[in-house]
Amino acid sequence: MTSESEQSKNGEQPVAPAVEAANLVKDVFSDFLRKRTRVLQGVSLTVRRGETYGLLGPNGAGKTTTLKILLGLMRPTSGKVTVLDGPAGDRKTLYRIGYLPENPYFYSHLTGAEFLDFIGQLFGMPRQARRERAAELLDLVKMRDAAERPMRKYSKGMLQRLGIAQSLINDPEVVFWDEPMSGLDPIGRRDVREILKQLKQAGKTIFLNSHLLPDVNEVCDRIGIMNKGKLVCQQRIAAISATGNYRDLEDYFLTMIAENSAAEKAVDETGGPIEDSQR
Ligand SMILES: Nc1ncnc2c1ncn2[C@@H]1O[C@H](COP(=O)(O)OP(=O)(O)OP(=O)(O)O)[C@@H](O)[C@H]1O
Ligand SMILES: [Mg+2]
Repeated sequence: MTSESEQSKNGEQPVAPAVEAANLVKDVFSDFLRKRTRVLQGVSLTVRRGETYGLLGPNGAGKTTTLKILLGLMRPTSGKVTVLDGPAGDRKTLYRIGYLPENPYFYSHLTGAEFLDFIGQLFGMPRQARRERAAELLDLVKMRDAAERPMRKYSKGMLQRLGIAQSLINDPEVVFWDEPMSGLDPIGRRDVREILKQLKQAGKTIFLNSHLLPDVNEVCDRIGIMNKGKLVCQQRIAAISATGNYRDLEDYFLTMIAENSAAEKAVDETGGPIEDSQR
């Protein structure tokens, strides 16, 4: 895949993208390895430094699989990933990124403050730095009042807020958030949008998976849409509205998915892509 390296502001040094995935294929096997399913069919995408990128797509499209491969949590069957100039899962790189999983696991006997302290220890942070950072993050996600309560007593939205806090403990350069708004009430969603904007202001690169298109529309610079293991399109949010062809991001999303599904169906029925002359 050609690199989308850009020129830096002074026009001299090319700046490598924060995240680059080239032709990712992922096969999963079931029935004792008898049945193979290709869940990613050659996904290539690029996220520039400082960009907020939203990966969208229907349930099962392959967003979480893609994100796990970018993080090095899952190996692709083939294809290449570069994150902050290193391979996916590179130890040095892991210290510079933050991750909010789709279904985070929490140690329910720990309090929120203890949990953040534990994550800080995993990053090798000294005690005082952990304490300060945890306090800062508990304020950021508005969880200071619940910090000393065990997490088994937290609501879903409170756990989600803590999940966001833990993903930022190491002041990461790139954050990967899988459905950050999941389980949040409208106030929580607004808070997360604000956090995203602050991170952007601080120059962070943000990669998120989401179904909440109004939120994506507000915070993202660029989106990719996946359908059935393929990246259907990548587009700047500003460019979508500039066309004047779509009522909103939902309209664009539904149009892209419908067009892609129709094209896929045509391929299935004819055994190959429809030539223009056949239309
Ligand atoms: N470990 C696995 N074994 C078998 N199939 C899997 C596995 N993990 C994912 N899949 C399949 O891969 C496809 C993509 O799943 P993925 O979780 O990436 O989708 P998604 O786009 O994140 O969906 P959602 O919006 O529901 O979170 C789905 O068809 C899913 O069933
Ligand atoms: Mg998912």
